[in-house]
Amino acid sequence: MKALITAGGHGTRLRPITHTKNKHLIPIANKPMLAYALEYAHQAGIEEVGIVVNEGDKEISGTFGDGNNLNVNITYIEQRAPLGLAHVVTIAESFIDGEEFIFYLGDNILVGGIKKFIDEFHENRSNCHLVLSKVPDPERFGVPEIKSNKIMAVEEKPESPKSNYAVTGIYLYDHSIFEAVNSIKPSARGELEISHAHQYLLDKGLSVTYSEITGWWKDTGKSADLLEANRLVLDNLDGLREAEVDKNSSITGRVVSGKGTRIMGSTIRGPVILGEGVIVEDAYIGPYTSIGDRCRIIGSEVEYSIFMSDSKIENVGTRIEASLVGHEVMITNSSAKPKTHKLMIGDQGKIELA
Ligand code: TTP
Repeated sequence: MKALITAGGHGTRLRPITHTKNKHLIPIANKPMLAYALEYAHQAGIEEVGIVVNEGDKEISGTFGDGNNLNVNITYIEQRAPLGLAHVVTIAESFIDGEEFIFYLGDNILVGGIKKFIDEFHENRSNCHLVLSKVPDPERFGVPEIKSNKIMAVEEKPESPKSNYAVTGIYLYDHSIFEAVNSIKPSARGELEISHAHQYLLDKGLSVTYSEITGWWKDTGKSADLLEANRLVLDNLDGLREAEVDKNSSITGRVVSGKGTRIMGSTIRGPVILGEGVIVEDAYIGPYTSIGDRCRIIGSEVEYSIFMSDSKIENVGTRIEASLVGHEVMITNSSAKPKTHKLMIGDQGKIELA
């Protein structure tokens, strides 16, 4: 069993962060999103992992190298353009080399890993095994039609969904998927759709079975999804508290912190993770917040947010909440008159002012 993991795509919904950073490297609880997928693969006993990246991408291989640190062997496969998820499978045929494999979209985060889906695929002895999750908005996903516990059809982003299930970004295949992805034609939006490949298998009478995720799963396309995924991971937070905390500070709940971090005159309510060399002074950090290395949170309040490394917030009067803040960002108070907001925002930045 091999794993094929995506780390390419456009990432348009996460701009401007994705102008300078591959979405799969955005930190969730201070760890790049893709690291979770690689850990799930290792926990499931998979050794050979193919990661599909955009042509010329060096950021992903620069971060994970040959995979040695995560106990897997990584092969990088370049996709010349984001031409669809079924296209990703076509270009991985020689890497897969006739084995069974799990196809995992690198922007999906779930609780409990992937081993149980692999076991269910093997128990079913099917050609294709899809992992489904009940969602309130199935029209955004590939949606299965299910009758008597059997998948009858799969439609991509249907206007009138035939069930309230989404096909998540976790799929298990045997070699028959390659005939499917090589036979289908691009959709109206110009992509080779993975749902069309699944429908092809059904039309050919091959067996497509499924598991249902009953726990937590998130496809992290937008910033609200990333914050939710961060919440999920922080809910199971485990680790050391290495920060120096002065006697004027109060810390409650699970708070994990790295070396060289100092907390002075502040209140922190976990679950919260603080990286290394973080300074928190005269501040409040509320639940479900991840603060990257060397950030400075001074005289301000932050909650339910992700701050990437080297960012600074100083003496800001309004609590910052539900925010995704990149690297080396500065948010400061302006005491100058007239009282105005002064902004320097990159292309496609998003700011909501109260
Ligand atoms: P999507 O979230 O569907 O698309 P995207 O990442 O391009 O983002 P956006 O819609 O905001 O522009 O992609 C799902 C996963 O598949 C994600 O890990 C990116 C990856 N992907 C590829 O690697 N190649 C592709 O051709 C496509 C379409 C996606």
